[in-house]
Amino acid sequence: MPRGRFITIEGGEGAGKSTNADFVLQLIKDRGLDGVATREPGGTPLAEEVRSMLLAERDETVDPLTETLLIFAARAQHLAKVIEPNLQAGRWVVCERFTDSTFAYQAGGRGVERRVIERLAELVHRHCWPDLTLYLDVPVEVALPRLAGRGLDRFEREHKAFFERVRAVYVERADAVDRIVSIDASRELDTVKRDIGAALSRFIETG
Ligand SMILES: Nc1ncnc2c1ncn2[C@@H]1O[C@H](COP(=O)(O)OP(=O)(O)OP(=O)(O)O)[C@@H](O)[C@H]1O
Ligand SMILES: [Mg+2]
Repeated sequence: MPRGRFITIEGGEGAGKSTNADFVLQLIKDRGLDGVATREPGGTPLAEEVRSMLLAERDETVDPLTETLLIFAARAQHLAKVIEPNLQAGRWVVCERFTDSTFAYQAGGRGVERRVIERLAELVHRHCWPDLTLYLDVPVEVALPRLAGRGLDRFEREHKAFFERVRAVYVERADAVDRIVSIDASRELDTVKRDIGAALSRFIETG
């Protein structure tokens, strides 16, 4: 049984990650491949509890290192219970957010040193990096209005400067890391999907 492939969808709030994760899973299934969709932080009952802890508004400020460690704790559980077993069973895994989010939000947004995140990634998933990452790039002022009507979580309440720092790290990583394909997600959804379909086809056909 060949190992499944690990695809992540990255981007800021309202970039279209959830919408397009469903679409990517459908494209995979249309090709007769087996796949599952999941998300971070979360993806298992315990990791979803950690997600709730991370997103909740609270009086106590959350230390950035604490936040980072909680995210990697949830990630370790998610890898052990969902990501690795599915990949080993030959299923493709489509995951909303992974360690690129941690670089963008906890290093870019919160100021945690990148080498701390590199060391934690090494510890938690040295052998399991995504094979393909679709980064949905969209200016903050385009993405945030898409969330209108939804209650905002602890991250979504951050200031514009925070989101600008997050985006800058994403853009830098998309340039520097081969597996990351940047997609302009400020355009109409059909256009975004067309580019995602093309990127996925290229990935499937060339390796
Ligand atoms: N390209 C697009 N143009 C316009 N609206 C879009 C586009 N992509 C997604 N949307 C809409 O924007 C909203 C947010 O999309 P979605 O929930 O997929 O984003 P997300 O990245 O998962 O957000 P979050 O970070 O909050 O989980 C949804 O109502 C969705 O239908
Ligand atoms: Mg979402």
